[in-house]
Amino acid sequence: MRHEVKTVGVIGGGYMGMGIAEVNAAAGLRVVVRDLAQFLDGAKQRIETSLNGQVKRGRIDAAKRDEILGRITFTSELSDVANCDLILEAVPESPDLKKSVLGELDEIVTPDVVIGTNTSSIPIAELAGAVKNPGRIVGIHFFGPVPAMKLVEVVVALDTSPETVEIAKAHAERLGKHPILTGDRSGFIVNFLLVGQVIEAIRMFEQGFASKEDIDNGMKFGAGHPMGPLALADLIGLDVIDAIANSLFDEFKRDQYASPALLKRMIAAGRLGRKSGRGFYEYA
Ligand SMILES: NC(=O)c1ccc[n+]([C@@H]2O[C@H](COP(=O)([O-])OP(=O)(O)OC[C@H]3O[C@@H](n4cnc5c(N)ncnc54)[C@H](O)[C@@H]3O)[C@@H](O)[C@H]2O)c1
Repeated sequence: MRHEVKTVGVIGGGYMGMGIAEVNAAAGLRVVVRDLAQFLDGAKQRIETSLNGQVKRGRIDAAKRDEILGRITFTSELSDVANCDLILEAVPESPDLKKSVLGELDEIVTPDVVIGTNTSSIPIAELAGAVKNPGRIVGIHFFGPVPAMKLVEVVVALDTSPETVEIAKAHAERLGKHPILTGDRSGFIVNFLLVGQVIEAIRMFEQGFASKEDIDNGMKFGAGHPMGPLALADLIGLDVIDAIANSLFDEFKRDQYASPALLKRMIAAGRLGRKSGRGFYEYA
């Protein structure tokens, strides 16, 4: 397997993909971001906003921002990632979409290259089943906002090779992240524990048991969480929470993971959280 990584292909330039692109470029790597043509401008804006925010806060200077941006290229052609040394996939949380993207990547990227998927909850073996070389598929699960969050879950599936796991761990460390190893079941370690709580909070609010502010303040001031579960759902994206709930429900068949009706109605109404300007809360 290819241990020396100089260029990283990031598939999907959304909230997570651009965070992943940013931390890789900040670590000195060249990055090729692939998204659908109509979303490339949005992807560029996303990273510029993030880096400009860091300049404003004095974390980096304008020259560093330009240097990081200069290492990232954008493309709508999947074939442009064919020569990358590592692939990180961050397309939306749909098993069918991810399988088709991973299947295409497996065809064009040489077999010695590790392909990590940033899925939040889909068992990796299910995704690896769509490719000819499942040994190189591994979960490399970042947390948002990627530049700020230290954790990377490295998810080891049935057929993930030990060398692939080593490369994934080493890469996370190179980015200054803290990798943890987890087995392969829906939600892995963190989302299994965290999203169960977010779903319960949505149900509490849906049932009129408490106000959204009191639910969030309860966990902020009582449990020391940096934000409450409903504000967290807005940050993650309500569509992503729904997809994780569906995946957990499929895996464990427990009623507690059934996606709440309110969540589905909010998604149908376009209230996806911060990314659409409105979720449980309103955003400017
Ligand atoms: N949102 C979070 O906090 C979070 C945290 C960890 C992991 N994740 C996971 O990361 C993945 C992406 O989530 P997100 O929040 O960034 O979603 P997002 O909707 O912000 O971004 C997804 C991007 O993928 C693009 N895309 C769609 N089809 C594509 C294709 N065929 N090729 C290339 N790009 C394509 C979309 O245009 C979009 O820009 C999901 O699997 C999600 O579960 C999300």
